[in-house]
Amino acid sequence: MKKTIIITGGAGFIGSHVVRLFVTKYPDYKIINLDKLTYAGNLENLRDIDQLPNYTFEKADITDAKRIGEIFAKYQPDGVIHLAAESHVDRSITNPLEFIQTNVVGTLTLLNAARDAWKGNMEGKKFYHISTDEVYGSLGETGMFTEETPYDPRSPYSASKASSDHLVRAYYHTYKLPINISNCSNNYGPNHFPEKLIPLSINNIKNNKPIPIYGKGENVRDWLYVVDHARAIDVIFHKGVIGETYNIGGHNEWTNIKLIKLLCEIMDKKLGRAPGTSAKLITYVTDRAGHDLRYAIDATKIKRELGWEPSLQFEEGLEKTVDWYLANEQWLNNVVSGDYEKYYAKQYNR
Ligand code: NAD
Ligand code: DAU
Repeated sequence: MKKTIIITGGAGFIGSHVVRLFVTKYPDYKIINLDKLTYAGNLENLRDIDQLPNYTFEKADITDAKRIGEIFAKYQPDGVIHLAAESHVDRSITNPLEFIQTNVVGTLTLLNAARDAWKGNMEGKKFYHISTDEVYGSLGETGMFTEETPYDPRSPYSASKASSDHLVRAYYHTYKLPINISNCSNNYGPNHFPEKLIPLSINNIKNNKPIPIYGKGENVRDWLYVVDHARAIDVIFHKGVIGETYNIGGHNEWTNIKLIKLLCEIMDKKLGRAPGTSAKLITYVTDRAGHDLRYAIDATKIKRELGWEPSLQFEEGLEKTVDWYLANEQWLNNVVSGDYEKYYAKQYNR
């Protein structure tokens, strides 16, 4: 069946993998990538597929109701997969308002556009909102987040995502808008912007710069290869039951320090350095304010009901990721110039 789908945030890290998957797997679908191209949006991420006939790019801000209404009128989408967001916790601590604007007001603007466009006939339509495990708060040493875990966001970023999740559910209950939500754990892989732990560390190791570890490095994250997240989004978009939420995770918990030590070993091998060379760059720095201790996703529901599970082991995925960054030096050099340098100097006092 032919479909027209608007994917927001398609020029970003996860969005670019989702756009690539949909454009190549579903040649009969028309895919519209709607993105403002903030510092995190990069059309280079889609160079390999941007000439395909079923792909279109629209530069637009999701908070601009008039422009969003025009785009919905122009394409009359059957589906929206909404990834556009401000996504970096540290930036939310220095500039919360931008997160409320994009993540809350932007999501509401899209919900209104979908509701207007689908008024009177919601059959076959879907508004699919991509969210994060951070809405559930912080775990102690045991336990996992399920779809029933009460929300307890603790950073301006996670509070803005929680708020957007609530609005999406409110539109389902109040206006019967057909929705799905998924809450995923930490992604890693190609095209990840080097403000986040793994790509920042790869870049610093490559350039013999200190690897900044917040606090004692004992915080735990559950890592999932980004292509596996894109596969889960495909499954939920096509098979997810309307109104339902699905947790997505890797069953792959690492303390930051253990992860970075593994990354250092891989980088030593790839760069032909003596074992232990890169680990000397590890530098403990001031902790993130309100730093959540541990995230862990219970992904039983999506496995049981939709048959999805991660395909890649972490060691293999991390090695693939390092290979990609070393082979795509130009991509990395392009994104770490200009504004990135200013951000880095301010965030890390150097
Ligand atoms: P990203 O920061 O790499 O990309 C965000 C994209 O959104 C960029 O292309 C940017 O240009 C675009 N954008 C930002 N503001 C916009 C606006 N006002 N209008 C239109 N476009 C705008 O983010 P990501 O890491 O790819 O995350 C994508 C989504 O997945 C987010 O909603 C995030 O909350 C969620 N998520 C991320 C992770 C993760 O580990 N990265 C995990 C779970 C959920
Ligand atoms: O859990 C899903 C979330 O994962 C997504 O919703 C967010 O969009 C995404 O950015 C990510 O959030 P985190 O805060 O977990 O990711 P980040 O890469 O910023 O940090 C990972 C861990 O590493 C965290 O415990 C903080 C720590 N860290 C991070 C940076 C940037 C450091 O120790 N040093 C650093 O320089």
